[in-house]
Amino acid sequence: MLNEKQKPREKLLELNSPKQLSANDLMAIILGNGTKDKNVFDLSKEIVEYIRENLNGIMTVDDLVKFRGIGKAKALQIISALELGQRLRWSKDKIRVHKVGNGEIIQGDCLEVMKTIADDSVILALTSPPYHNAINYEDHIKKLEGKIKYWERKEISYDFYRTFLVDRFKELYRIIVPGGHNVVNIAPVGWNGVRVALPFHFVGWMEEIGWRFKEDIIWEKEVARDRRSGVLMQHPFPGYYYPSLVAEYVFVFQKPAGTKNESNIFHFRTKEEKHANKINLSNYQGEMSKNVWKIAPVAPQLNLHPCPFPEELVRRVIEFYSYKNDLVIDIFTGSGQTNLVSEKLERRHIGIETQENYVKYAINRINKQVSKSQLNLLSKDNQ
Ligand SMILES: C[S@@+](CC[C@H](N)C(=O)[O-])C[C@H]1O[C@@H](n2cnc3c(N)ncnc32)[C@H](O)[C@@H]1O
Repeated sequence: MLNEKQKPREKLLELNSPKQLSANDLMAIILGNGTKDKNVFDLSKEIVEYIRENLNGIMTVDDLVKFRGIGKAKALQIISALELGQRLRWSKDKIRVHKVGNGEIIQGDCLEVMKTIADDSVILALTSPPYHNAINYEDHIKKLEGKIKYWERKEISYDFYRTFLVDRFKELYRIIVPGGHNVVNIAPVGWNGVRVALPFHFVGWMEEIGWRFKEDIIWEKEVARDRRSGVLMQHPFPGYYYPSLVAEYVFVFQKPAGTKNESNIFHFRTKEEKHANKINLSNYQGEMSKNVWKIAPVAPQLNLHPCPFPEELVRRVIEFYSYKNDLVIDIFTGSGQTNLVSEKLERRHIGIETQENYVKYAINRINKQVSKSQLNLLSKDNQ
């Protein structure tokens, strides 16, 4: 039931369709301040009626500028005010927060979920974005559930994909602590028979947002899953060389801070905190000290997700770039490997994922880890 005392935007959240909102309330939302009848845009009833009738995504800036007194800037303001209303409704209905161990697994689009997180509050982000055109996660789930036999690549344009990523890494920038890090696993993608240099484009997109590029680590998977190099075996001549793909990038970006000292995540830590977080260097002088990490991928039978992080990769990133009790986020968490390892390493954690099956799978595994840690504590107490 609508409560007349509610602000217009709150009313919009309660309604199934913005078309049910009164013209006055709609105007108030367009004004952006929720004040009834205060029509700073000087919209006529005719314009408001038009907006109400055409709200379902089909109204454009071009439609609005046809009205007298509405220029391009005003039209853009109107559309973005209406979209804000839609977004608020979406986030209220669809975001599901599950508390688990020291953290949360949140089901929803990471862009919407991040809007609910405070500025400068997360010390480290680690993620591997959904692959452009490579994996169709919705269909992968349907295949797991036996609803379809095969899943196919999903056709989206590269431009759409760039906007999708830039919007989300911009919002991530807002919530990361100045001096905190954003670690992204990414690789070139195959598109219409051509290899697209996604990681190299991605670095430019991140720098435009404000992220400072810090490290390019190569994750060498040791085992090739493709047989590209076989071409040269069949045609041993120049021009037939296609190396088998065994590597992906792990880029480290940092959010710049005001002073040099603030840029160091160790700067404000006490001596005790540093000692409690001392890194074990017994294996360090091997490959770990260099920017090529040789880590085997997770065998398909060991994880439900088609491309999970190996725990070892997550462990290195978390230990190198955060302290115990710090908050770590994975905005595309999939099977929740980042959350699981954060839990093991005593970090607080947030994982965001759209697909319910992966969310349930992640929660189950973290719960098991929590029970295991509690049992270990109990047996230590009894010794
Ligand atoms: C490359 S996988 C990440 C796998 C993960 N690193 C792991 O260890 O399991 C990318 C994930 O992003 C999810 N995803 C796609 N779009 C999303 C969105 N808008 N918000 C949150 N998650 C999304 C996909 O369902 C997929 O599970």
